[in-house]
Amino acid sequence: MKDNVLFQLIGEIRSCYPDKFGTPRQPGLVRSSWAKICIDRRWQPEHALSGLAEFSHVWVVFFFHKNEGDSKGAPRYHAKVHPPRMVGQKMGVFATRSPHRPNPIGLSLVKIESVEPDGVVVSGIDFVDGTPVLDLKPYLPEVESISGARAGWSEGLSESREAISIHWSKELLETLEGWESRSGHTHLRELIEETIRLDPRPNLYKGYEGQASPYRQCHAVRIFDGDVHFRFEDATHVVILECQVPFAGHGKSK
Ligand SMILES: C[S@@+](CC[C@H](N)C(=O)[O-])C[C@H]1O[C@@H](n2cnc3c(N)ncnc32)[C@H](O)[C@@H]1O
Repeated sequence: MKDNVLFQLIGEIRSCYPDKFGTPRQPGLVRSSWAKICIDRRWQPEHALSGLAEFSHVWVVFFFHKNEGDSKGAPRYHAKVHPPRMVGQKMGVFATRSPHRPNPIGLSLVKIESVEPDGVVVSGIDFVDGTPVLDLKPYLPEVESISGARAGWSEGLSESREAISIHWSKELLETLEGWESRSGHTHLRELIEETIRLDPRPNLYKGYEGQASPYRQCHAVRIFDGDVHFRFEDATHVVILECQVPFAGHGKSK
């Protein structure tokens, strides 16, 4: 058996998330998230994508190109890893969805919004802008939907979403409206709120809400070409502090 195989990229993803911070940890968590999977012309996307529009979901196989290496720049590999939802505990890497694995390959099931001649527009994503793509395969519910499947250590640890309320000032809502109309991006409020409700903060920063903290308590997620600054007032209340969006100055909460 050969040790190495060579794959060819089929294209690149344009995503509403420029950074890893804020990008959902799994697909399907932020329904209003957006990406276009652009297929390279040499694969003749106008032919290669025919028939896909009849499916509702597609598996995307991609390369974790933004994985950071260790202090010497070598790929990080640990046979046991800390899943963020399992505070302090370790699991075998093959029992997790960690991006740091022998082959840094990602697999996400996402919803097809439209199929265009040069690519596929999808929602419910968990990949960053610029992600290289290895393959697309249609989701086959008849064979892939398994009722009664077990979810191991992750059972009952699903991400909380609904309980967090998000406060916007009137000024910031106006900034958001201007951003939407200038950029043509729709549902930005929904996208921002769904993203923040997943609480993207690293575990280290949590638990100090409303008290003195050794860590920064204001964070910013980048969405498309804007920066949205927020603070958790307590575990269930978030305040949007600022929206830095192109051509609009810096909208700040008064
Ligand atoms: C925990 S991984 C799980 C991804 C996928 N569902 C899987 O199991 O293959 C998802 C996280 O990977 C990170 N990520 C997304 N795209 C990436 C890329 N191109 N390179 C490195 N990290 C990426 C983001 O921080 C995202 O929250």
